[in-house]
Amino acid sequence: MVVKKYYIETYGCQMNVADSELVAGLLNRQNYRLTDSSAEADIILVNTCSVRQNAEQRALARLAQFKHYKEQNPELILGLIGCVAQRDRGNLIKEKQFIDLVLGPDTYRQLPDILKKNQLPQIDVRLSREETYQDLLPFRQTQVNAWVSIMRGCNKFCSFCIVPYVRGRERSRPVDSIINEIRQAVSAGFQEITLLGQNVNSYQYHEFRFPELLKAVADIKGVKRIRFTSPHPEDVDDQMLLVMSESENICHHIHLPLQAGSADVLRRMNRGYAPEKYLDLVQKIRKYLPDCAISTDIIVGFPGETDEDFNQTLYIMDRVIFDNAFMFKYSVRPGTKAAKMKNDVTNDEKAERLNQVIMKQKEHTLIRNQALIGSRQLVLIDGLSKKNKQEVIGRTDSNKQVVIKAGSAQIGDFVNVEIIDAAGVSLFGIIH
Ligand code: SAH
Ligand code: SF4
Ligand code: F3S
Repeated sequence: MVVKKYYIETYGCQMNVADSELVAGLLNRQNYRLTDSSAEADIILVNTCSVRQNAEQRALARLAQFKHYKEQNPELILGLIGCVAQRDRGNLIKEKQFIDLVLGPDTYRQLPDILKKNQLPQIDVRLSREETYQDLLPFRQTQVNAWVSIMRGCNKFCSFCIVPYVRGRERSRPVDSIINEIRQAVSAGFQEITLLGQNVNSYQYHEFRFPELLKAVADIKGVKRIRFTSPHPEDVDDQMLLVMSESENICHHIHLPLQAGSADVLRRMNRGYAPEKYLDLVQKIRKYLPDCAISTDIIVGFPGETDEDFNQTLYIMDRVIFDNAFMFKYSVRPGTKAAKMKNDVTNDEKAERLNQVIMKQKEHTLIRNQALIGSRQLVLIDGLSKKNKQEVIGRTDSNKQVVIKAGSAQIGDFVNVEIIDAAGVSLFGIIH
C-alpha cells in the first residue's frame, strides 16, 4: 500500500499543540506519515485558533496560501480543523470550494474513517460532552516536554472569550488514562510533563480534584518535572498549593491570568474575582511557595475600560511584579456577551495602553530575572541556540529561559547553572 504523507500546522494555545499530536497519532495508525514539508504532503491540516480576530485571520490566510498546491495537485486534501473550524461551522467550505474537510475539536476521531472512505468534502463540528480522547496516544513532536491533556472545554464564560463556544463544556479525563499516558511518556524518555486544560485546576473526576491528581502524577516513578497550564484564579486552593510545596518535582511557576485590575471591568468580564481577591491569592501563593514565579495574561481596552480602570491594571502589576505576561488588545468575538457591549475604546487607545503594559512588564521581568543573578539553578536543557552553535537553551524550575555555554551538555540533560546575567526575557548562565 502506498504510504501517504500529512502535514499539520498548528496555531493557538498548547491545547491545540496537544490536539495536533493526537491527530498525528490517529493518522500514524493508518497508512500515513508526518512530513515537515507542506509541498510534498497528500494531506494538509491547519489546526486553528479563534481566540482573537488576528489569530483567526492568520490561520485562514495560511489556508488560502495552500490553495495553489491544490490547483497543482487536485488530489491534495486540505483540511481546516480546530477552533476556527468549530466557530465557522462549515460556512467556509461552502464559500471556499478548495477546502475539503472541516473538523471541530471534538470530532478528530472521525478523521481516519473519513479518509479511508474518501467521504469528502466533509464537515463535522459536533461538540461533545464526553470526548476526552482518553484512549488515544499522541504522536509527540517534542523531545523533552510531553503535553498531557487532562480536561477539555470551559464552563466559565468570561464575557470576552470564545473558548466555551468552540471547545464546549468542561469534562475531565479519567485518572487512570492520564497516569498511563504519563508512565508511557516517562519510559519514552520525557523529562517534563505539562498537564493541560483550559481551566486545568477545575479538573474533577469522581473524587479526584486537581490537587489529588497533581499528587498522583508527582508520585509516578521517574517524573522529573511537572508543570500545568492554565489554572483559573477562582479555583486555586490551599490544597493545590500544599501539594506543590510538598512535591519536589512540581515546578514553582503558576500562570495566573489576571486580565484586568479594575473591579468594575473584572465584573463585566465575568471573571469571578475582585482585584483584592487576586492580590490575596498572590500573597497566599508566596506564603506556600516563596520562590514561585507568577506569570499572567492581560487584556487592555475591554468595553467601557476608562483611563482610571486601566490605571488599576498598572497598579496590580506594580503590586505583584509578574515574572512574565502575555498582553493583548481586546478583540471582539462574535457571539460572546462582550460583543454586545459597546466596543468604545478606540484602537489607538488600545495600542497606547498595550504599549504601557508591555513597557512595564519589560521592567518587571528584568527586575525578577536580575534578582537571580549569582544564584544556582537546576536547568533542563530543551533546545539549541539559534544564534550561537556553542550555546544551548534550557529552563529553570520557575520556567525562565536560560542561555548556557554548551560544554558537553545535551538536550534532555539537567545541569547545575550559575546565573551570571539577565537581559530581555532571558537569563545567561554557566554550568557548574
Ligand atoms: N483558559 C485560559 C485562557 C485561554 S485564552 C484562562 O482562562 O486562563 C488565553 C488568553 O487570551 C486569555 O487569558 C486572555 O487574556 C486572552 N483572550 C481571550 N479572549 C480574548 C479576546 N476576545 N480579546 C483579547 N484577548 C483575549
Ligand atoms: Fe476563556 Fe475564561 Fe474559559 Fe479562560 S476561563 S477559556 S478566558 S472563558
Ligand atoms: Fe485558541 Fe482554541 Fe486554544 S481558540 S487559545 S486554540 S482553545
